[in-house]
Amino acid sequence: MFDKERFIEDCRAALKERNAQAAIQELVTKAVSDPAQLLQVIGEPTRAGVETYYKSDDLTILNLCWGPQMVFKPHDHRMWAVIGIYGGREENTFFRRSADGLTRHGVKVMDPKDVTPLGATIIHAVTNPLDRITGALHVYGGDFFAAPRSEWDPKTHKEQPYDVADTMRAFEESNARLTGAR
Ligand SMILES: [Fe+2]
Repeated sequence: MFDKERFIEDCRAALKERNAQAAIQELVTKAVSDPAQLLQVIGEPTRAGVETYYKSDDLTILNLCWGPQMVFKPHDHRMWAVIGIYGGREENTFFRRSADGLTRHGVKVMDPKDVTPLGATIIHAVTNPLDRITGALHVYGGDFFAAPRSEWDPKTHKEQPYDVADTMRAFEESNARLTGAR
């Protein structure tokens, strides 16, 4: 049975491993291995948004819910991450820096029980292609909210400092559409 406090403790302990990201990947894989059971504990998501389960200088654990058809602009993290899907679908488009901003170099579609480790230098955009909420556990090897990082304009691919307020607006807009659709 998934236990949130136990999961946080286990992730904290995993940070002491030689390959902390691999150890965390094992924990996330286990957590999302039975989505129905996980949902019983954390609840079926009803809104888009970011719920912070844990945050410190060296670890951030989020329950991240993408709204239906939500498209999230390219951004980097500057710390390793592990993403595990427990509901819906997450489409990750990966980019590399190029002379005119960014070049696309791959897409990875993630379904429930899928887990992906992301390196500290990756740049990605995220889309929820479904008409329902996508739920995922995101674990980062640092303070996800405090670290300075970049985002790119989805159309011009111009790099700019990551704007947390704009992220929160994107979730609010998604929720407004959810409410409107009901
Ligand atoms: Fe991301």
